[in-house]
Order: sequence, then structure tokens, then C-alpha cells
Amino acid sequence: MSVAQSVNAAVRGIPAWPLYPLLLLPGLWLFWSVLQNPGPNPVETLEHGLGEYALKALILGLLITPLRDLLRINLVKYRRAIGLMAFFYVAAHLVVYLFLDQQLNWGAIFRDITKRPYIIVGVLSFLILIPLALTSNNASIRKLGPLVWRRLHWGVYPAVILGAVHFVLMKKTWQVEPLTYLAIFCVLVGYRGWKALRRT
Ligand code: HEM
Repeated sequence: MSVAQSVNAAVRGIPAWPLYPLLLLPGLWLFWSVLQNPGPNPVETLEHGLGEYALKALILGLLITPLRDLLRINLVKYRRAIGLMAFFYVAAHLVVYLFLDQQLNWGAIFRDITKRPYIIVGVLSFLILIPLALTSNNASIRKLGPLVWRRLHWGVYPAVILGAVHFVLMKKTWQVEPLTYLAIFCVLVGYRGWKALRRT
């Protein structure tokens, strides 16, 4: 039996639902560590940590197709849980921004959303991700039909690029970490684009 066949056999016996609590653990750990050791800027630590978990979960979700195509490892049944947990981290990141960072100061929030390019890009990414999260269920796939549903979910590609650009712009100088995320997303999106082109 090849490695891929053994992994696929194991996957058949492991349901997707434990991924929800499992992927929640890093967020809970982050929250707990900030409570234990707030440091000079606990809100920033929380906000940044949640943003990075969102990007990491998005990478995990986007790796599933190349893993299946290139290594024949089929983890497709876990994609929904990973995608929804990525959205959970983006939403938690936004909640920290609104409630803790800006303390619901709508004037300052409005100024950020209209004047700061990195916030505008982050909001765009978030807006694209909302319909994807809302339709990540069997009822929506049935209602929209698989073709429309799949087209809608292509939105994840601009959303991840915008998410990474948000991180790059936030840093004001070129920094390795955000550029690495951007490069990883460009490769993953490029792979899907190349696959779609080859099919047509
Ligand atoms: C409604 C949309 C969003 C808002 C208002 C927002 C806001 C923010 C703010 C205020 C910061 C910290 C900036 C600073 O400290 O100067 C930040 C950082 C960050 N955000 Fe967002 N964000 C949004 C969407 C997103 C999305 C969609 C992603 C990912 C997919 C994301 C990932 C990140 C990351 C990775 C960081 C930096 C973390 C670090 O420095 O380690 N954000 N965001």
C-alpha cells in the first residue's frame, strides 16, 4: 500500500467534526496566554494572532486540492471545517478590532475604512468571505446547484490574495513574513488558474 493509499484509508475512518474543536485550540491558547501574560499591548497581540491564524487556516484549506491532484491524498471531506474555521478566525479578528482596538468608536472606524488602504483591502477580503461561509453547507449546494456554488467559491482566491496584501500593506516596509504569505497564496492561486486554463 502506498503512503497516499494508507492516508486515504485512515481518512475514511476519521470524521470531519473533530476539526472544529481542534482548530479552535490555537485561538483559545492565544486568548489564555494573553490573559496570563498581557505584555505591553494585549489587544494588538490578540488582533495580530487571530489574523495570522486566519491566513494559516486559509492556506490549509487551499492545500487540499493540490494534495489530491499531485500526491493523491484526499482530504476533501475536511475542507468545509477548515474553511469555516478560517472564517471564524477572520471574524474573531474583526471583533477584536471593533470592540477592543477601536472600542466601537464608529467615527474612527469609518475613518479607517475610508482612509487606510490596508483596512480597505482587509474589509474587501472579509466581504468576499461572508457569502462563502454562509453557503458552506449542503442545503446551499443543493439550492445553488454545484456549478454556481463552485463559481461563487472561487471568491476564495481574490479573498486570500487581498488578506495577504492587507498584511503586506499594514507593515509599511517590505517584511519577510507578510511577503511569504503573499507568495504562498500566489502559488496556490496560480496552481488553480493553471489547472482551469489547462482544462479549457
Ligand atoms: C474587516 C476586515 C479587517 C479589518 C478591519 C482588519 C484590521 C486589522 C488591524 C487593525 C490590524 C493591525 C494593524 C496594526 O497593528 O497596525 C490587522 C492586522 C492583520 N490582519 Fe486584519 N483586518 C481585517 C481583515 C483581515 C483578513 C480578511 C485577514 C486574513 C485573511 C486579516 C489578517 C491580518 C493579519 C495577518 C494581520 C497582521 C498580523 C501580524 O502583524 O502578525 N485581516 N488587521
